[in-house]
Amino acid sequence: MVLENIMLIDGSGRGPCAASICCADGVVKKIERKTGAAIAESGIIAVPGFVDVHVHFRDPGFTEKEDIASGSEAAAAGGFTTVCCMPNTNPALHSPEILADIDRRARETGRVNLFALSAMTVGQAGRELANFAAMDRTPTLCRELTGHGICGITEDGKSLLNEDMMRQVLIAAKRLGLVVMDHAEPETEITERDIRLARETGAHIHIQHVSAAATVDLVRAAKKTMPNITCETAPHYFTLTSEALDRLGPLAKMNPPLRTERDREAIREGLADGTIDVIATDHAPHTLAEKSRPVDEAPFGIIGLETCFALAYTHLVKTGVLTLPQLIEKMSAAPARLIGLDRGIITEGKAADITLIDTAYEGVIDSSAFRSKGRNTPFDGMPVSGRVIKTLRAGAATFEVKENA
Ligand code: DOR
Ligand code: ZN
Repeated sequence: MVLENIMLIDGSGRGPCAASICCADGVVKKIERKTGAAIAESGIIAVPGFVDVHVHFRDPGFTEKEDIASGSEAAAAGGFTTVCCMPNTNPALHSPEILADIDRRARETGRVNLFALSAMTVGQAGRELANFAAMDRTPTLCRELTGHGICGITEDGKSLLNEDMMRQVLIAAKRLGLVVMDHAEPETEITERDIRLARETGAHIHIQHVSAAATVDLVRAAKKTMPNITCETAPHYFTLTSEALDRLGPLAKMNPPLRTERDREAIREGLADGTIDVIATDHAPHTLAEKSRPVDEAPFGIIGLETCFALAYTHLVKTGVLTLPQLIEKMSAAPARLIGLDRGIITEGKAADITLIDTAYEGVIDSSAFRSKGRNTPFDGMPVSGRVIKTLRAGAATFEVKENA
């Protein structure tokens, strides 16, 4: 397969250039860069397949909200070739048996590289640590591609409040060479504690879904002396404020919550100056019935896989917060690096995980067309620029846009 005379952003940090990309057997065989060639005017650009380190596929246990098949379809439609599933399922992802079952079913579906994180504690009950070593040895697709059976450890959905247990998690993660992804709640308090514990243990801590200006400040300061801290934010934190909650109720209810204009601005600054390494979606599907309840009773979370690129392109690139290559870095190479995955850059000899984006596209978000089972988005009807038109995972198409509107 050849992508002829296409614009390429390879993810290495260099700027766009015209190129032809030749792929065979799932691998990029040859890239011919056309120096001095006229830049194609179509707006279609090949970029490394996106990697989402924070999704909830609800499988097993809550498959009325999402399952491995529907979540994988949504990921491919969003341009993602790898996703990392959070463990707050039922049962929680806390054993090699549950991990192996998810891995087997994800491979059968075959739309996306589906990796999983272990819960910190059995049943996420906060009493007994899960057996991380056994899960790390489990022969999953993640292990084939990264050397680790799981792509990290997290208690996402809540924080592990017992400080000594958190220390034990970090010591175990450090020994195994795994990243600890940290749902910090209350956000700045737990971030402060866990920066201290990461300093003490040397473990790699990754703060999930950063939403507050004070957290950005903490991470920025920590990075000056610590190589072992990274963080992510999600599109809703750089596009919306608590005003959306007043307007949309449950559709704008998530954890951590939408905050002030000052916080939103700080998230943009953190993205621009490199304090925030990664953009993840926190794709959190819920049923319409659940989200139709009064705002106090509705569950936390919004879906994000099929809106992520367009929102980021519209609200970060079009506004000058990031260049397009910088955005692609935060959606591909940086998250790949975080989980030890040797992808995220289009280069000869490596897997052909490639997403085609159309930066000239102008449209509105239409949640009725989503592959996800979830419709819980605050972005329906919102005008955006840019979209994903095709996704290739190891050279095979996993998504292609149908209509050519
Ligand atoms: O909004 C959220 N939804 N935040 C979380 O931490 C968990 C997630 C979910 O599982 O629904
Ligand atoms: Zn979380």
